Amino acid sequence: MQDRHEDIQKSYKQLGGIGSFYDGIITRSTLIGKLMDSIIWGLNKEMAAKWINDALAPIPDDFKGKLLEVPVGTGVLTMPVYQTLKEAEITCLDYSADMMNNARKRAEVMNIDNITFVQGDVGKLPFEDESFDIVLSLNGFHAFPDKDAAYDETYRVLKKGGIFCGCFYISEEFARTDFFVKHLYVPKGFFTPPFETKKSLEERLSSLYTETSVNNVNSEGIFCCQK
Ligand SMILES: C[S@@+](CC[C@H](N)C(=O)[O-])C[C@H]1O[C@@H](n2cnc3c(N)ncnc32)[C@H](O)[C@@H]1O
Repeated sequence: MQDRHEDIQKSYKQLGGIGSFYDGIITRSTLIGKLMDSIIWGLNKEMAAKWINDALAPIPDDFKGKLLEVPVGTGVLTMPVYQTLKEAEITCLDYSADMMNNARKRAEVMNIDNITFVQGDVGKLPFEDESFDIVLSLNGFHAFPDKDAAYDETYRVLKKGGIFCGCFYISEEFARTDFFVKHLYVPKGFFTPPFETKKSLEERLSSLYTETSVNNVNSEGIFCCQK
């Protein structure tokens, strides 16, 4: 997993030309990204690397099955991983065509040809029941407007025995982040309440899945469970 992390870091460096403002923030590769990570999220470089690595850890290095990522955003966190999963069948979905166009371009530049991009709503996924072996969701559930529908749909499209994993903002773990979420991210429309706490997320996932684990790095909640 450490190797993969290093590969991912290298790939980010190669992606300078496609980098957007958002990418600089989420990967803390720009000054503003580093400042926001530090001031808003209370994260240093190691802590930021940990949440990304831990959220992606459930994807086996030799994964060959069907994976759904929702929401893919600009793909900045996941395209470097997909570049290593040549035999997997990957589907990436996002509501925003603009965000996803960045992911599509990134996949093209990186010569990744095993991804299908689908514009759509997590609350109404255009897939058959039990279609995927892994459903990955990074930084989505704090943004999704209808969280119950998102939980229902991600569960529905996952095969029995499949893995649901990812990360998103959880409240009541780091007061400074809670303050900025309430006074900045929610008013700006980036985040949509209600938000899970670590306890409520554990309870919600355990009511649907087995083998549930929920950890956190400050306000970044990292989860993994099995259907
Ligand atoms: C903070 S970004 C996360 C993107 C990416 N996973 C990452 O970690 O960089 C949140 C994304 O959720 C998408 N989104 C919001 N509501 C959605 C919905 N109902 N269905 C699908 N995607 C949605 C937004 O378009 C945006 O790209």
